[in-house]
Amino acid sequence: MSCTSSSEKTLDLNTEASPNTSLGLDQAIESKLDSLLGIMTLEEKIGQMNQYNGFWDLTGPQPKEGAAAKKYEHLRKGWVGSMLNVRGVKDVRAVQKIAVEESRLGIPLIIGFDVIHGYKTMSPIPLAESASWDMEAIKKSAEVAALEASAAGINWTFAPMIDISRDARWGRVMEGGGEDPFLGAKIGVARVQGFQGEELSANYTIAACAKHFAGYGFSESGRDYNTVDIGTSTLNNIVFPPFRAANDAGVKTFMNSFNELNGIPATGNKMLQRDVLKGDWNFTGFIVSDWGSITEMIAHGYAKDGKKAAELAANAGSDMDMESYLYVEHLADLVKEGKVEEKLINDAARRILRVKYELGLFDDPYKYCDEKREKEVLGSSENNDAVLDIAKKSIVLLKNENQLLPLKKEGQKIALIGALASDKNSPLGSWRIAADDDTAISVLEGMQQYKGNSLKYAKGADVSIGNTAFVTETKINTTDKGELGEAIKAAKDADVVVMVLGEIGFQSGEGRSRTELDLPGVQQELLEAIYKVNTNIVLVLNNGRPLAIPWADEHIPAIVEAWHLGTQSGNAIAQVLYGDYNPSGKLPMSFPRNVGQVPIYYNYKNTGRPTEPAPDIVFWSHYSDQKNSPLYAFGHGLSYTTFEYSNLKVTTENQSYNNPKVLVSIELANTGDYEGKEVVQLYIRDLFASITRPVKELKGFEMISLKPGETKTVNFELDKETLGFYDNKNTWIIEPGEFEVFVGGSSDKTMKSTFELK
Ligand code: BGC
Repeated sequence: MSCTSSSEKTLDLNTEASPNTSLGLDQAIESKLDSLLGIMTLEEKIGQMNQYNGFWDLTGPQPKEGAAAKKYEHLRKGWVGSMLNVRGVKDVRAVQKIAVEESRLGIPLIIGFDVIHGYKTMSPIPLAESASWDMEAIKKSAEVAALEASAAGINWTFAPMIDISRDARWGRVMEGGGEDPFLGAKIGVARVQGFQGEELSANYTIAACAKHFAGYGFSESGRDYNTVDIGTSTLNNIVFPPFRAANDAGVKTFMNSFNELNGIPATGNKMLQRDVLKGDWNFTGFIVSDWGSITEMIAHGYAKDGKKAAELAANAGSDMDMESYLYVEHLADLVKEGKVEEKLINDAARRILRVKYELGLFDDPYKYCDEKREKEVLGSSENNDAVLDIAKKSIVLLKNENQLLPLKKEGQKIALIGALASDKNSPLGSWRIAADDDTAISVLEGMQQYKGNSLKYAKGADVSIGNTAFVTETKINTTDKGELGEAIKAAKDADVVVMVLGEIGFQSGEGRSRTELDLPGVQQELLEAIYKVNTNIVLVLNNGRPLAIPWADEHIPAIVEAWHLGTQSGNAIAQVLYGDYNPSGKLPMSFPRNVGQVPIYYNYKNTGRPTEPAPDIVFWSHYSDQKNSPLYAFGHGLSYTTFEYSNLKVTTENQSYNNPKVLVSIELANTGDYEGKEVVQLYIRDLFASITRPVKELKGFEMISLKPGETKTVNFELDKETLGFYDNKNTWIIEPGEFEVFVGGSSDKTMKSTFELK
């Protein structure tokens, strides 16, 4: 595996005729593209590069003036290639009809939507799903999302988001696969495969979009849209791998990002879009800008006005303008003035039209517009079963002292406390535009189905004041503890207290960064007040990001990470609490002890001063007021049973660093009383390299199911795909030398061995 350096790559746009066959393109489609492009005017080609947001009541009269009227006119002229946020068969059919029946060439629109974790039936938020480490389940969840979205007229999702992030302050970590590029790449591929399926032209699959290219997860200080300034090695080895993998898996589109990367906004970044993605990686789909990100290059201080922004974005390789209105306004003039070459316009239009052909839109522009199917598919019981399955798999058991969990099914008095316990909206999470409000199963409803115990619910205190899509810190309840008394009473009386605390659904997501990672509002006080009267507490966390909960970790015997789990949330949580599902999730992001540790991640570099040289010597890489280690490590997650690892063996079958083959095996035994699943994780460390390597890097994992008393040998193979890294020219290299290999059930609990490549 090697690739040329971006700087050496020359562009082969080959736009006047079909691109060469080595890219694996369908030549029948390419020749149709030749014919179509041959009859399109410059304005019509630029029109394909223009995407508008949904703009008027499609069932009402045509708009006569204002922005909506202009968009309508553009649609009829064939100056719109795509629309987003038009959803539902009726509305999609209406816009498609204008494009197909009223424009000169009748080119169908591609209809985009943020199908981030489900459409109507919501799956867990992507960060939660990532905690399943179960690629089949993740793929299935994307399949269900595609099934529903396509039945509602949509044929393109702006997902998966595969931005690696190490910063829990950033609200968008809820949308991604966590902190690790190896796991993140696998998750990205599973989601692309789920959305696009085996057959993109089927009416139940949709085009996927790998976003945001690139570096958005490294926004400084976790503040959304902020500057990104990262080194080449981090870009090549941490940020790029999931995108590279998504491209290899055939993702049809990419979205660029709001952030600048090392001084150049991603939207106007030629290195990212033309040199790396369309050059080195031979990406044949198209790149859409992020919402208004072409215009935002003015605010970034990169383009002096809209016209310049359009020029920079088009030349850099942004094929479609989402809601900046700048391509449609300026590109034709820019071509005439010689500032943008026409062949770049041809290339962009070809890429966009290619995806439309691949979707089958030219064969039948209304293929996603079947009211009967829409009615049958949306919210079906099969879809609910599927999201319940992935919801259970996403739950992570963080702590379980004295086997407080699973709960006994009979004869117990249970107090259920917390506003989130009865909340039917929060579990839907952020990014759930098409879901109906208050349609999730709450924890209360889930637990009520277990009739053998007495269950008493008391809210305790609200998390937020009002429950809107725009919850900010100012709307968090920091004062009202009016119902605390009732909760204390219920707790005093109970054998076990289940407390559901955390963030409401809209506290994470885009534009929702936080500077604190604690339990918001008065919830910490509520937790401590209940603990004073009953220490037998199971804390169920609902949240869209890692939280810092050191007090809870020290005092509360059982802690369950239940994220925002989607429509079936309460059922999934109840089934786990009662042991009908034995939790198997593992954290895809480190949980810090406090905000000051962030960014915190398991694959850090050693530094020159990694350890305390002698007691009380301060000059080593540490904090004077807190440990370096996280509260819960990447990969951590318990089960109701116990697993024991033994007999780690490493055999170097081929020691040559050019073509290494290293076999690793370990024995895993279920030493507890329950059948359970364990994600066995393999990490390596390349001890000395021409570019320093992290102290641990995930390079393999296997989900193993074991009955009580059962033992299995788990095997891994390390080769040139796993033992190398990208150098600063973005070339994959492997070097001879010593390696450590670690295997275990968490990044911080592993057995270790070594081997050498020569
Ligand atoms: C987000 C994208 C999203 C787009 C369209 C932007 O604000 O950054 O991820 O796909 O809006 O809704």
